[in-house]
Amino acid sequence: MTGPAGPGAAPEVDAAAAPAVDPAEEEIARRLAARPESPAVWCADLHKRYGKRTAVAGVSFTVGRGEVVGLLGPNGAGKTSVIKMLLSLVRPDAGEVLLLGRPARDPAARARVGYLPELFRYQPWLTAAEVLALHVRLSGASVPDGERRACLAAVGLADRARDRVGGFSKGMQQRLGLAVALVARPELVVLDEPTSALDPVGRADVRDLLLELKARRVAVLLNSHLIGEVERVCDRVVILDRGRVAAAGSLSELLGQRELRLRLTGVGPAAQARLAAAGGLTRDGDESYTVALAGDRPDEVPALVEDLVRLGVRVHAVEPARISLEERLLGILRARDGGPRP
Ligand SMILES: Nc1ncnc2c1ncn2[C@@H]1O[C@H](COP(=O)(O)OP(=O)(O)O)[C@@H](O)[C@H]1O
Ligand SMILES: [Mg+2]
Repeated sequence: MTGPAGPGAAPEVDAAAAPAVDPAEEEIARRLAARPESPAVWCADLHKRYGKRTAVAGVSFTVGRGEVVGLLGPNGAGKTSVIKMLLSLVRPDAGEVLLLGRPARDPAARARVGYLPELFRYQPWLTAAEVLALHVRLSGASVPDGERRACLAAVGLADRARDRVGGFSKGMQQRLGLAVALVARPELVVLDEPTSALDPVGRADVRDLLLELKARRVAVLLNSHLIGEVERVCDRVVILDRGRVAAAGSLSELLGQRELRLRLTGVGPAAQARLAAAGGLTRDGDESYTVALAGDRPDEVPALVEDLVRLGVRVHAVEPARISLEERLLGILRARDGGPRP
């Protein structure tokens, strides 16, 4: 694994000299053999307590190869704790983790994972180029000079390569952290709040980087408070609250309920019934109707309009709408308020 807090890759273990196989690992290997393509991240029933405080209370999810998954939730929900358990930086009290189809502690898996921690500090006397070179060496990968420079350029640090990181702003350090996470051609990238110190341009840069990773089928697990950004780049979202998964799914699953706002005149009882059949119907004013569409058929809207016209309705406006991920997230968290605390 490459990353500022990562211990780097341990030497390859000689299979012949390795100790007898642990039955738990053997069980994992058996399960893996049954999978067509092992996901980038697979974790099951992770638990973690710090003293009396439960940080994580039974978290399971997967990140498929090439998939971009957002990890969301309020402060203290357990996001960073989950990430650290995935990367073996914190030992779970219970639960299992596989990275790229291998046990999380296996150096062969960790060498293919890039990680940007939430909090980190580099050796202030090193230059940006030296920090990158150090982490490439730790990862055991061989990355030519030109590619390393391109990586610094991709995070907007092309002209700061020879400057000491002790003089970098927080945002520049975060950009360098991103370069470190990306430089050793990872198959999985784990980013814990990569844009917390970045200006709007920096955030847009990160979004472009994420889209590029997605295009290259690199799997990404992204913890960010910038929900708009998550919504733009993520295929799926896992929402944590008080150490548990409060909701998970693709954006269309989570935001699935589409709304249709209509302005109509001449609505008779038959048309009213047709509207109600399409989903939850509310009348907001004389001519304004909102339908929370129940179905997910692509031709739902034209079919409804066609029927309304046939029933003598005059259709002045039809405006599809969908709630934002932010609204959905707040809805999920508020609905859980007063629920059990771990
Ligand atoms: N090293 C630690 N020692 C004690 N408590 C911790 C430690 N790390 C996290 N916690 C606690 O675990 C809970 C989850 O923290 P964290 O995983 O950092 O949440 P998030 O990243 O979602 O904000 C919090 O209540 C936090 O105070
Ligand atoms: Mg955190």
